[in-house]
Amino acid sequence: MAERCRIYVTRPIPEAARERLCEACLNVELNAGERGLTREELLRNLAGHEGVLTFLTDKIDAEIIARADGLRVIANCAVGFDNIDVRAATEHGIIVTNTPEVLTDAAADLAWALLMAAARRVVEADRFVREGRFHGWEPGLMLGAEWVGKTLAVIGVGRIGAAFALRSKGFRMRVLYVNPHRREDLERELGARRVDLETALREADFVSLHVPLTPETRHLVNAERLAMMKPTAYLVNTSRGPVVDEAALVEALRARRIAGAALDVYEHEPQLAPGLAELENVVLAPHIGSATVETRTRMIMLAAENVFAAMRGETPPNIVNPEVLGRRR
Ligand code: GLV
Repeated sequence: MAERCRIYVTRPIPEAARERLCEACLNVELNAGERGLTREELLRNLAGHEGVLTFLTDKIDAEIIARADGLRVIANCAVGFDNIDVRAATEHGIIVTNTPEVLTDAAADLAWALLMAAARRVVEADRFVREGRFHGWEPGLMLGAEWVGKTLAVIGVGRIGAAFALRSKGFRMRVLYVNPHRREDLERELGARRVDLETALREADFVSLHVPLTPETRHLVNAERLAMMKPTAYLVNTSRGPVVDEAALVEALRARRIAGAALDVYEHEPQLAPGLAELENVVLAPHIGSATVETRTRMIMLAAENVFAAMRGETPPNIVNPEVLGRRR
């Protein structure tokens, strides 16, 4: 298989990962440019390749899939795969894989970093000092909110949501979770309680979103649901931008209907909703949930392993459309 396998990589990757790909596949072509590929470039560049290693900025839609003659595997270098039309891939006999597990800790850690930064006004404080506005300690300067002993709502307790919830243990928080099924491990470990979304939003001091983006979760947090939150509560979103109605969030933050928010993802990424960047009570990060040296390296290597397995005719470890196996190319 190896001699015949032609792989396309849509963004620059660490040298070690490129070497690993080259060891197993004769032809590795990659986009070494700084920017992601346009739709036209994706259409053109995927032609003639049997495997493609994609990133979450690559929108692999039904037409790209239909025109990618000979493509056998799309290995997405992300745990989310909402950028890929998985149904179209399955119809064309193409395997789709993702990179779960290896980024769980990094993503859970970033959600906590953002929660803490928002609650303790870390970014605002940094700006304050840099701008030369710090003229000495003051009793009322930059007062924030505490999370120890407060109520935490975790919306979606898959791998990342569960890891995020478990990290609250040292903070002695009351943990609520919203999930399609019970997580008895979290109930045992944290005394966590499964509740419906409305209860979670009404009771929580901190709400953190960890659901995948699906038609059901699009605008899961909208104006009506933001209005259910306490005026002292914070919202953290490290999942996918469209899970939150961002314009409604801007309004809620501006009117102080909630105390604050911290976002790593945006509804129309990389664009921000009008007014978002002007608000003091929101912390904004540029989609860096998995952005550590160690995690990104593990993700690329895992994506490469998924490509190899598909090329060898094996079932890749992280296949997301196993129903394709009977009809693979
Ligand atoms: C990042 O957002 C990912 O899905 O891996």
